[in-house]
Amino acid sequence: MSSSSSPRSLRAAASGVLSGTVRVPGDKSISHRALMIGALAVGETEISGLLEGDDVRHTAAAMEALGATVLRPDSASGLWRVRGVGIGGLAEPASVLDMGNSGTAARLLIGVVACHPITAVFTGDASLNKRPMARVTGPLERMGASFVGRKGGRLPLTVIGTDHPVPIDYRLPVASAQVKSAILLAGLNTPGVTTVIETHPTRDHSELMLRHFGAEVTTTTLPDGALAVSVTGQPELTGRRVLVPADPSSAAFPAVAACLRPGSDLTLTAVGINPRRTGLYITLKDMGADLSFENVRTEAGEPVADLRIRGSALKGVDVPPERAPSMIDEYPILAMAAACATGTTRMFGLAELRVKESDRLAMVATGLEACGVAFEAGAEHLFVHGTGKAPRGGGFITTAMDHRIAMSFLVLGGVAQEPVTVDDGSFIDTSFPGFIDLMNGLGAKISEAGDA
Ligand code: S3P
Repeated sequence: MSSSSSPRSLRAAASGVLSGTVRVPGDKSISHRALMIGALAVGETEISGLLEGDDVRHTAAAMEALGATVLRPDSASGLWRVRGVGIGGLAEPASVLDMGNSGTAARLLIGVVACHPITAVFTGDASLNKRPMARVTGPLERMGASFVGRKGGRLPLTVIGTDHPVPIDYRLPVASAQVKSAILLAGLNTPGVTTVIETHPTRDHSELMLRHFGAEVTTTTLPDGALAVSVTGQPELTGRRVLVPADPSSAAFPAVAACLRPGSDLTLTAVGINPRRTGLYITLKDMGADLSFENVRTEAGEPVADLRIRGSALKGVDVPPERAPSMIDEYPILAMAAACATGTTRMFGLAELRVKESDRLAMVATGLEACGVAFEAGAEHLFVHGTGKAPRGGGFITTAMDHRIAMSFLVLGGVAQEPVTVDDGSFIDTSFPGFIDLMNGLGAKISEAGDA
């Protein structure tokens, strides 16, 4: 797995147009939730389109360690199957739960375990073990769980789940779907109604999937405009079929690469277009991108479309802070589009970028500098000054164990004057296995940095 494999330096050189029709791998957020909620259901859940990336494999292994049966697909069907243990039925794991590079896996599962009467130790790789966990352990303590972790509640962390969980009403201090989901999942094995209030709506895949499995989840708008999301505890969840759409956050990389090359014509099939995830696509359209959602349909409760992108000139725009939750993972790739646009793109409300797989604001800024792109960065904002011409490129990019930093700068290398090299592309496998082959199949030129 990437978290233990040796670094893999990659280089992207300028290429011609990108064309073709492809499907990017399954949605990471939905894949984690399908495995976790399937493990808490009674009976069998059948999942098609599951992301087979390292992050999701860590979740699959953890659900097995907690007592569920996870059947990997035979090569013909591609279907994963989960035989669940029912809410309250999880077993104490015999060993430490390793969540690899995945904040979603760690935070959501800490929520699941917190309201089961079991003790489990969570750890991760060097990137995950730096990330803040107090944002989930704080509210889960109020539900009755106890935690022994490092400073700031960081992993490795021991979760001592409670056998008398109490429901809470909790207003999120940061816009975070992971924190919301951790509390809602804890609410599953808690009598009564657990409520999370969010001022800025974040991705609602947990709510949609819990309803799909038979839970009662309601969303109400409060007088101040905030959303109250409530789950009624101790429902009987039943195994279901789940169709995982292609990940809009992964589609973002080939989509931007095609936008930046006039003459490109790319179709990305069955991409999830849940409105809580489409901020990047709204922003690209504002910038003048030729982008459309075709064959819009609903698959297993999630809206899906084929995304068609043709190359076009882009112009700088302002991206308002309230759009951040719907494109939180897409700022690094937006910064690459902005570097090629004419004029300044001003991105606001980026505080949460600093606590992702890396400090993404800092890593983007350092990389832009190495590639000769003018920018201004502050605590919570990034302004990128594009000239409308191909950036110089030529930088050597430190990726800090962050898949999205690696993919973003490889996209920039595809349009820059000089090739761009990333120090380690191995973490791309956490979310986008097959990225290099998919991109090269469309016309990109990405290779091992050691190759001629
Ligand atoms: C995710 C929520 C987001 C996002 C992450 C996946 C999820 O994190 O960055 O990649 O699946 O709930 P935050 O909740 O920390 O914003």
